[in-house]
Amino acid sequence: MKLMSAVALLVVAFAALATAQRQLIRPEAEACANRLKHASTFRNGHYYFFSWTHGPTRDHERDWLDARNICRKHCQDLVSLETQDEANFVYEQIRLGNVKYIWTSGRKCNFDGCDRPDLQPPIVNGWFWSGSSARIPATNSTFGWRGDWSHSGGGGAPQPDNREFSETRTDEACIAILNNFYNDGIKWHDVACHHVKPWVCEDSEELLTFARFNFPQANIQ
Ligand SMILES: *[C@@H]1O[C@H](CO)[C@@H](O)[C@H](O)[C@H]1NC(C)=O
Repeated sequence: MKLMSAVALLVVAFAALATAQRQLIRPEAEACANRLKHASTFRNGHYYFFSWTHGPTRDHERDWLDARNICRKHCQDLVSLETQDEANFVYEQIRLGNVKYIWTSGRKCNFDGCDRPDLQPPIVNGWFWSGSSARIPATNSTFGWRGDWSHSGGGGAPQPDNREFSETRTDEACIAILNNFYNDGIKWHDVACHHVKPWVCEDSEELLTFARFNFPQANIQ
């Protein structure tokens, strides 16, 4: 059931991107083989990339889809925080780098195909990690780890609050981690996806499998 809904989400995600004329790109053999391998100590053989620690991207900020595509070219995707351990590991890099904010792969289902009853209302039940297709617990879930949404934001309201929608009709459909921006610690915020930010990539097992199969001569590790 979980897998089925994940696959369904993936399908609607692709459909929405196609409609928007901005597509997800395919991984490239050389980029995958030569991708930088940051933080190999956190999970053996599963690598990350922190845009501010790499000379050429040190000062780069990208919108959410561009950041995803940079990751995907390298057989990665924007980072997905499925566990508190992984989240803490990423927060530590943000703290060490003194970075203001970053993009994650977190996304609200707000496009064609998102009218499924179990995703309603989207601001509570519609969140998922687009990098791994894992669902994000309901924001008001009362058991287990339900993420690190901030208790505050630009409007002083607990996150997610979709604040920009009330001002400009732009949905806040992507999850950024902000570093104490509202004196609230290193926390999750719903943010409109067109904003530009540094980013964190993480190996995508799906894209690595795809690339290893399609580019066997590239010797992708
Ligand atoms: C969470 O919010 C949804 C939608 O507003 C509501 O139906 C549900 O009862 C809430 N769950 C809890 C545990 O408060």
